[in-house]
Amino acid sequence: MNNDMIHFYDLHPPMADFKQEVLDGLQTQPKVLSPKFFYDKKGSVLFDQITELPEYYPTRTELDILQTHCDEMAALLGDDCLLVELGSGSSQKIRTLLQTVKPAAYMPMDISKQHLLDAAQTLSQDYPDLEIHATCADYSSDFDLPYSPEHLSRAAFFPGSSIGNFEPQHAKALLKRVAKSLDSEGKLLVGVDLKKEAGVLNAAYNDKQGVTAAFNLNLLDRINRELEANFDLEYFSHHAFYNETQGRIEMHLVSQAQQKVSVGKQGFQFSEGETIHTESSYKYSISQFHQLAQEAGFEAIQSWTDEQDLFSVHCLQVK
Ligand code: AVI
Repeated sequence: MNNDMIHFYDLHPPMADFKQEVLDGLQTQPKVLSPKFFYDKKGSVLFDQITELPEYYPTRTELDILQTHCDEMAALLGDDCLLVELGSGSSQKIRTLLQTVKPAAYMPMDISKQHLLDAAQTLSQDYPDLEIHATCADYSSDFDLPYSPEHLSRAAFFPGSSIGNFEPQHAKALLKRVAKSLDSEGKLLVGVDLKKEAGVLNAAYNDKQGVTAAFNLNLLDRINRELEANFDLEYFSHHAFYNETQGRIEMHLVSQAQQKVSVGKQGFQFSEGETIHTESSYKYSISQFHQLAQEAGFEAIQSWTDEQDLFSVHCLQVK
């Protein structure tokens, strides 16, 4: 890489076996598919469009919170830390923090190598003095930081309420791993979507333009394209709703008829109204999230929300 400020580490994250996971998920009762498979090229473009929708408040609300409180966040993280971002994607949100946080080094961590490298180059053009340690890794499994000089304190940034897409026990396990990879007193800034009136949540996942529906249905299209399957997209529909008991938005694809679908050589029977559960997006109250953080080995030292209490950002410290 032709830039002294960018270092690259490939931890060779094992790639998910798309075919096997799809076959297994369609054999399960009720049928399931992992949301991690939403993000092929088309799915990533659709997700970017979701973040701009009037109904989808999380992205702009989180950015607003970061913008409003980045002075306090910088004071809490301190100067000269190693700042690791989990699932950094195009490294956009970090720009808001970099107005006030001055890390000694920034470590974007993402599973998609090309996306990571492109984002590091772009960021470096805009922040030529920033030392970047781009790391290709899967933060949802065990990882060691490939660069962590003793003299730097460690901090992590995990925005977007991506933590909400994990089942709570997996979210706790993930936080435990993050706590382990930070030194004692290491800090984590994490964005978490809040519990709220069901109408607001239902609208955010059932936008009028149908972008979220297209995002959900693209999963079947992707399976058709990559796994020689024959899902007829006319016969499946998007269904998203807030499950109050579980405290989560559930996204499903609903079969509109009794039908048989083939994936490669394997056939799957669907009854009319049968669903494939494609995503859960957990919502937390502030105290529920503090409890989860506590059980994972963190202490919540500060939390910020917007005026309408739609979204939260927490600064946690390893106990
Ligand atoms: C990435 N994740 C936090 C989004 C969410 O809100 O759970 C994914 C998403 N699914 C539908 N809309 C957005």
